[in-house]
Amino acid sequence: MNILIIGGAGYIGSHVAREFLDQGHQVTVFDNLSSGLRRNLFPEARFIHGDILDYAGLLRAASGKSDAAAGNATGGKTGAPFDALVHLAAAKAAGESMVRPEKYSVNNISGTMNILNVAAETGIRNIVFSSSAAVYGEPQYLPIDEKHPTNPENYYGFTKLEIERFLHWYDKLKGIHFAALRYFNAAGYDVKGRLAGLEQNPANLIPIIMEAAVGIRKEVQVFGDDYDTPDGTCIRDYVHVSDLATGHAAALDYINRTGKSLSINLGSETGSSVLEVLETARKVSGRPIPAKTVGRRPGDPARLTASSGLAHELLGWKAKHSDMETLIKTSWDVYNKQ
Ligand SMILES: NC(=O)c1ccc[n+]([C@@H]2O[C@H](COP(=O)([O-])OP(=O)(O)OC[C@H]3O[C@@H](n4cnc5c(N)ncnc54)[C@H](O)[C@@H]3O)[C@@H](O)[C@H]2O)c1
Repeated sequence: MNILIIGGAGYIGSHVAREFLDQGHQVTVFDNLSSGLRRNLFPEARFIHGDILDYAGLLRAASGKSDAAAGNATGGKTGAPFDALVHLAAAKAAGESMVRPEKYSVNNISGTMNILNVAAETGIRNIVFSSSAAVYGEPQYLPIDEKHPTNPENYYGFTKLEIERFLHWYDKLKGIHFAALRYFNAAGYDVKGRLAGLEQNPANLIPIIMEAAVGIRKEVQVFGDDYDTPDGTCIRDYVHVSDLATGHAAALDYINRTGKSLSINLGSETGSSVLEVLETARKVSGRPIPAKTVGRRPGDPARLTASSGLAHELLGWKAKHSDMETLIKTSWDVYNKQ
């Protein structure tokens, strides 16, 4: 297939691009490099430097009219017509979204409306969208499956849920099939060691621990150790980016083959506490990794774990690399070399 990957220079997007290339697809990456990196691009994929907020530029890219002569496209073969697009471009810091909602309204919601309208205009009929477990909010029961009520606790999660609703309408009105992939906590690096672009301004635990291990930051802050969990720290579901990447390929295959849309969890179905993650990181890296317990953060549930039963049933997908050792080891290999 010929696939347009929007946000493909980012942390998850570059792994997704790698997977589609590995499977023999033709890939064009479209990215404004706001948090994506040139070193995450592959020579065999075409790259278009552009912004989803620029409707005309996005339309040119999606219809295959961006070219090297225009100065914004490099590498790979020509792009159009695209059979599918993968949309990963978004602002993603839940905490920031509560103080700067405007940024999330514009980049996540207006940007996605441009993508949907361009897809409708250019005849792209399959969209894989990076949604998030943040659509669920405070867990009512565990593990969280797709029937769990959606009640986001932060504005970031709200933008993801709204986009899923727009996707339903564009499916109904424009015949665009979609897979909204509700990732839990993405972590790790390419299991074959081919990607080394550090995640920019991370707000997630594992890259923060890695930054402390290599001395980019002084210590890791542990937000609360008095939760109702065995060691008192929060438990989360960490899913390896290489697993997320195969999940995208399986989801695209499903919607393309069946013509059915879906919203689906991608998680490891395993919970790890903050202290367990820290201990594994200390063991794997051999570094002391200082940590300090501070107060709880508002809105942090004690436990969050996924059921990925539906992904298993419909897509034949299961996390294979999401054990904590592999998550940490593939991350440490990258951070230790920088
Ligand atoms: N990292 C996680 O744990 C996680 C969990 C759930 C969902 N997600 C979602 O997955 C997606 C990818 O996340 P990531 O961790 O790879 O983040 P990232 O910041 O590394 O990737 C986002 C990419 O989109 C690009 N981008 C952003 N705004 C753009 C714009 N206006 N025009 C063109 N390109 C733009 C950035 O340059 C970057 O390359 C996001 O939609 C995020 O909300 C991430």
